[in-house]
Formats: sequence, C-alpha cells, structure tokens
Amino acid sequence: MQTTLLANGSKIPLLGTGTNTYGKEGNQYRGKLNGDFSALKSAIQEGYRLIDTAISYQNESGVGKTIFESGIPREEFYITTKIPSDDAYIGSRKAVEQTVLKSLENLKTDYIDLYLIHQPIDDEEKLKYTWEVLESFVDNGKIKSIGVSNFTIEMLEAVHNFARIKPAVNQIQSNPHTWNHEMIDYMLKNDIVPEAWGPLSKVTPEQRAKLAKIAENYGKNWGQVLLRYQIQRGVVVIPKSHNKDHQISNLELFDFELTKEDQFMIESL
Ligand SMILES: NC(=O)c1ccc[n+]([C@@H]2O[C@H](COP(=O)([O-])OP(=O)(O)OC[C@H]3O[C@@H](n4cnc5c(N)ncnc54)[C@H](OP(=O)(O)O)[C@@H]3O)[C@@H](O)[C@H]2O)c1
Repeated sequence: MQTTLLANGSKIPLLGTGTNTYGKEGNQYRGKLNGDFSALKSAIQEGYRLIDTAISYQNESGVGKTIFESGIPREEFYITTKIPSDDAYIGSRKAVEQTVLKSLENLKTDYIDLYLIHQPIDDEEKLKYTWEVLESFVDNGKIKSIGVSNFTIEMLEAVHNFARIKPAVNQIQSNPHTWNHEMIDYMLKNDIVPEAWGPLSKVTPEQRAKLAKIAENYGKNWGQVLLRYQIQRGVVVIPKSHNKDHQISNLELFDFELTKEDQFMIESL
C-alpha cells in the first residue's frame, strides 16, 4: 500500500475503508446496530488496513473487535476514529479524556493512529482544551497523530495559531458534487494531509459516463479513475463498500497513472 507523509513524519496509507454503515441493519447509517461486521471482515481479508471509524457511528467497539479478531498484527493497521463536538464528549477536559480512553477500550488497542475532531467546535475555549487533551495523548503515546474533520481554512488557521502539535489531517468531503478544490490546495501547500470522505458519492449518471470513458484508456472503471485522481494529487481516500467485488476494485489503484489531461477532465467534471 502506498503511503503519504504526515507533518509529524509518520506515514498514512493513501487508501482505506470507511465503516459508517458497518454493523447496522440494512447497511444504513441510521440502521439499528446488528453486529454484522462481515463487510469489514471482507475488507480486511482483501487487504484494507486503514480503517476509518468514529464515535458517532456507534460501531467503534464492533470495528475494534473485528480488527482484533482478524488475528493480523495490530501494527499492520492504521486506525482512525473521531470525537464528536457535543458536550457529552467535549464538555470539559475530563470529558475529552474519558472519551479518548473509551475509544481505546472500544478499539481494543494500546494506541490509535489518528484521532480527529469530527466537526468544528465553535466555542474557542472548548476547541483549545479539546486540542490540548489530544496533544497530551500524543505525548503519552496513546495517539500517534491528531487532526480534524470538516474544518474550513479559517478554522484550520485558528487551530494552527494555538496548537503545539499542528493538525496532521483534515478529513473533508471530496467528490464531483463537492470537490473542495480550494481547500485541498490550501492543505497540500500547508502540510496538512487532505482525506476525502464520500469519495464515490454524489456522482451523477452523466459524470459516471464521462469517468467511464476516461477509464477505458486504462482498462479501469469509473470508480477507480475517480479514486486514482484523488490519491495521485495526495488526497487519502476511504471508500466504503458492502460488496466484495467493489472492495477489490477500489483497491486496484496503484498500477496505472492518469495523464495530466485526464486529471484535468476529472477535476472539471
Ligand atoms: N468525517 C465525516 O464527516 C464523514 C462523513 C461521511 C463519511 N465519512 C467516512 O467516509 C467513508 C466513506 O464515505 P461514504 O461511506 O459516505 O461514501 P462512499 O465511500 O463515497 O460511497 C459509498 C457508496 O458507494 C458504493 N460503492 C463503493 N464502491 C463502489 C464501486 N467500486 N462501484 C460502485 N459503487 C461503489 C457503495 O455501495 P456498495 O456497498 O453497494 O458497494 C456505497 O453505496 C465513510 O464510511 C466514513 O467512514 C466521514
């Protein structure tokens, strides 16, 4: 698996799997938890090692159990989780500490590779102490890297101004509906790794047809060229699938390179 470098010198895989509907009835985000992690088991079996979960997905412990029971050494995985921005989790320093400790317990691990603040925190004081607590967990080795999600450029700059440890990653939506090109350019220039959520979502039939046409040049499919476009410009992708064939297809991104012309066509879809 190819990786990209974070500002702290550690490596993050360019491709991983999302998990937000795993372990849920009907494969629905708001589906009742049913403990069915067969899709994650399949993803791990096919070779996914970056696993992206979050407290708000309510499946952290099932994700942790599935990773643990895979029998694959912990150090081969790259586990990401996220702290919600509600008071129940960040209402005080103590609450933040307890949330992180609970994630460690849920994920059955001694350390978490990447811990993100899931949504912007409007209250400056809360944002500051939440970040400071995350920094303290980096200091004690329980978290390797910290970052944010769904932060704007202004919010990134606000964190940058007080952070002792700079945000390594900002996980944001990026797909043909909402590319966030300007934000991604900013991050690439400022040593913050962009990570795209929903990388295969919101693609219209017309866009899919255009992507499929480009993909013909490489013997690939629409999803593969779309994901390749992102990793080729240094954006980590975390596509999620309940379908084994799709999981396999989404892994096959490292044996071709898009031309500048095709990159331009995709970026202006
Ligand atoms: N930070 C945030 O606020 C945030 C927000 C949303 C999501 N996320 C994270 O990002 C991950 C990915 O986003 P997402 O799950 O919303 O969307 P996604 O990965 O863009 O798309 C998932 C959809 O694409 C389909 N799909 C996957 N591979 C395919 C392929 N090769 N061909 C055709 N269809 C394919 C899946 O259906 P099948 O199951 O049928 O393949 C599923 O319906 C999430 O799971 C979550 O971990 C984070």
